[in-house]
Amino acid sequence: MSAASLPDLVLRYGGNLPRYTSYPTAASFTDAVGPAQMEGWLKDLPRSGPVSLYFHVPFCDELCRFCGCNTSVMRHDEGRQAYGDLLREEMRRMVALAGEGLPVGHVQFGGGTPTTLPPAALRRIMRAVRRFFHLGADAELSMELDPRHLSDGYAPLLGELGFNRVSLGVQDLDPQVQEACGRHQSFEQTRSCITQVRNAGIAGVNIDLIYGLPYQTAESVAVTAARIADLGPDRLAVFGYAHVPWKQKRQRTMPVKALPGPMRRLEQRARIDQVLRAAGYVAVGLDHYARPGDALARAAQAGTLHRNFQGYTTDSCDVLLGMGASAISMLPQGFAQNVTSASAYARAMAGHAALPVARGIARTPEDLLRGAIIERIMCDMGVDLARIVPPAGMAAPDFTAELQALAPFVQDGLATVEGQRIVVTDRGRPFLRNVAALFDTHRAGLMAQAGQADSPAHGRESRAAAGRGPAAESGDAAAQAVPTPRFSSTL
Ligand SMILES: C[S@@+](CC[C@H](N)C(=O)[O-])C[C@H]1O[C@@H](n2cnc3c(N)ncnc32)[C@H](O)[C@@H]1O
Repeated sequence: MSAASLPDLVLRYGGNLPRYTSYPTAASFTDAVGPAQMEGWLKDLPRSGPVSLYFHVPFCDELCRFCGCNTSVMRHDEGRQAYGDLLREEMRRMVALAGEGLPVGHVQFGGGTPTTLPPAALRRIMRAVRRFFHLGADAELSMELDPRHLSDGYAPLLGELGFNRVSLGVQDLDPQVQEACGRHQSFEQTRSCITQVRNAGIAGVNIDLIYGLPYQTAESVAVTAARIADLGPDRLAVFGYAHVPWKQKRQRTMPVKALPGPMRRLEQRARIDQVLRAAGYVAVGLDHYARPGDALARAAQAGTLHRNFQGYTTDSCDVLLGMGASAISMLPQGFAQNVTSASAYARAMAGHAALPVARGIARTPEDLLRGAIIERIMCDMGVDLARIVPPAGMAAPDFTAELQALAPFVQDGLATVEGQRIVVTDRGRPFLRNVAALFDTHRAGLMAQAGQADSPAHGRESRAAAGRGPAAESGDAAAQAVPTPRFSSTL
């Protein structure tokens, strides 16, 4: 095995790839899936549940230049109230099809900034959740917060309604970086936000950081990571900045000349990793960190971690009902995404009983199988193909080509392969998506549509599509809680 140099790795594995928060990814969604199909899927769900719930609130109090998510500003309280009413109505329509009383173990509000929902609107939504579903006593209720705009009384409200986890956007503490991103947020604002939620009895605190932003250096991101680690969040998400100005126009005002290149990004990522590990965190999957005793870290250790549109999760439920503009639902039969903008969502919900679904994809047995493999790679840093059971009626597939395509990864010290067992090394962690992409048979078609030739092992830049969230990653991460564009830079 030769230890490839950083420039070699950048050359071979750089480019844009999906974040694999779903498989097939949101880039494969088409209008072949609409309200009628989703209604059929909901009617066919087992009446015993369980289901998880996701509410997308696209509004923010102000827009940040770097943000790749599907967000807008809604200043009027009536507009925010009205949006809350639509979320309840959409939930009512789904429940009318899937049945009442299904058990729920996870409820997440993402955005945008879901605390832009007026307190009365949030109360009504949570009352409806408890009326329509059987919310478990130990259910995880989580909410994304913007520490700059947490109004007085909102943290106690979250505590009173039973929320037990929050995600705070921080990104970077350096004033020059904040200026470039159009997001001014003092350390004191972040600390005060954490104090407020902890005083409200909310134990779970996640923080989002970003590397690869303008003017960041390995040393500056290390300073941010160390100061944030001092605040003691249980979990951190460390995203690589997704610069997708063709999807997100506001990013055109970012000072592109000050963006670090792939080598600098890799170094920044490595420095943050070093700082967080030294502070006692363990690395989880592609881009998360958690305290060793935290449920996410324990799940990663036990091989029970999962990945969905919100990113890494302990939620093992295979049904996620997504409500709100651009929200994505996951069902065993397929994925369905709502219309994107808040205004289109309001129009789609007006006057009739249909669901506001715009696009999606039905999952074939092969998609389910490959999706399971990709999820294990993204969560466990590897997979034993011999232990992946094909869906009923499907013959055991032949993965010879995929195993052969791993040869460069093995040579570069990024992975090991023993028989059917693939293990991604710690050095290979930044390239987890490149390994997952070897099992993605939809990608070649998407690349061809976009007019790009590509070998599965070596992702080149793809401009295919955008989703909710920062365009370079998530249809996935972005689709909901994590910002994310459908494809993002791997480095
Ligand atoms: C949906 S946003 C919500 C953030 C929250 N409303 C706030 O303002 O603090 C969630 C996270 O997505 C990440 N994010 C947004 N745009 C991004 C981009 N272009 N590249 C990478 N991560 C991004 C940020 O870390 C952000 O905290």
